[in-house]
Amino acid sequence: MKKIGSLLFSFLLLISCLQDKNTPIATVNTPQTPVTAVPNSVTCDTININFEKSIMPILEANCIACHTTAQSSGGVDLSSYAKILPYISNGKLYGSIMHLPGYQPMPSISSQLSKCDLATIKKWLIGSFPSGSIAVDLNPKNPYNPLVAVNLTPSAPVGNITCSPDTVYFKQNILPFILSNCAMSGCHDAISKREGVQLTDYTSIMKTVRAGDPSNSSLYRSISGGGESRMPPPPAKPFDATTLAFVSKWIKQGAKNNSCDASALNCVTTNISYAAIVAPILKQNCTGCHSGTSPSGAIDLSTYTNVTKYISNGKLYGSIAHSPGFVPMPSATASLSACEISQIKSWIDGGSKNN
Ligand code: HEC
Ligand code: HEC
Repeated sequence: MKKIGSLLFSFLLLISCLQDKNTPIATVNTPQTPVTAVPNSVTCDTININFEKSIMPILEANCIACHTTAQSSGGVDLSSYAKILPYISNGKLYGSIMHLPGYQPMPSISSQLSKCDLATIKKWLIGSFPSGSIAVDLNPKNPYNPLVAVNLTPSAPVGNITCSPDTVYFKQNILPFILSNCAMSGCHDAISKREGVQLTDYTSIMKTVRAGDPSNSSLYRSISGGGESRMPPPPAKPFDATTLAFVSKWIKQGAKNNSCDASALNCVTTNISYAAIVAPILKQNCTGCHSGTSPSGAIDLSTYTNVTKYISNGKLYGSIAHSPGFVPMPSATASLSACEISQIKSWIDGGSKNN
């Protein structure tokens, strides 16, 4: 019975996803296949990104001529996901398509992928993960799922910050999720402390963690378990497999209070796109509290239109910059990375476009 119930639920969920009005699926005249996203058609769909449908076609159109197994220019073969992966891990794929200093500009010095293609690839690389680490979270069928976290610029000869691709960092990879999904008022903030649990900083979070042992850590058990005690409780969505894997890995690695901000080295602050950069930062750090039926402070940051209200009154920037006179966000003790703050500033200064 339970199974039928959950099947029914998944089915309803599927229906509601198919009907999601916010998903900008191109208006194609083939109603029988409504979910097939066609990259680079009329609209730039950076929401429904999938390796086979969104990324591989871009590489096929722009790169494969020179980078197959038979014709591997520079020894680089990009003909399959497995062959592409090393160039994601060493940052070269990203460096070359973005024409970053220190990389061979691709497809060539004089031509670059379209803005839409770049945004799509970048979004795919970054996934829903914090700056500095790329989470390659592809479809469940690929052998590397659930995640490969890699540094954007491990081989770039600048500065001496290198984030280990195999390490999960508390400050960048764990804290933002917990703050945004657990520490809202009425739940596990410093005042409400539901069930005596506060989840606002390293010290309080560690009361729910046994370093090295995810299955005996109430933090991990509560977010990975099913049923009524699952956290965050319904109607909130459960954490996805990728996030769970991150939390588990961080605990296994000793649940350290570690931090590594590789984006400090390689922070792109020009031509900032709302869809590709700003919205994911807000989703990662803010909308856990600032969306839904009763958003914190009655502020909903889940849509472009709503976000712009807090641009014009200066509150969004004031709060993330922790400027005097504003409530510091995401909290008094946690802030976005310097790179994320500059990216949002640059987007605001550029007219906060819906780009
Ligand atoms: C016209 C042929 C051609 C096309 C098209 C092309 N490449 Fe290349 N690519 C090369 C050559 C040649 C090299 C080796 C350059 C060198 O080592 O001097 C190279 C090197 C690279 C490297 C290694 C870069 C580095 O800094 O070491 C990557 C990654 C790469 N290409 C990715 C791509 C991607 C992604 C595309 C499509 C967006 C692409 N290439 C399109 C010819 C091409
Ligand atoms: C843990 C929950 C939580 C998270 C995460 C969070 N906020 Fe808030 N936010 C609140 C609450 C609660 C208030 C109302 C505070 C008050 O009025 O004292 C608020 C107020 C605000 C305000 C109004 C500030 C002012 O000075 O009036 C802005 C703007 C805001 N948040 C933006 C953000 C942004 C941007 C992020 C992500 C970087 C974020 N918030 C993350 C809970 C949160």
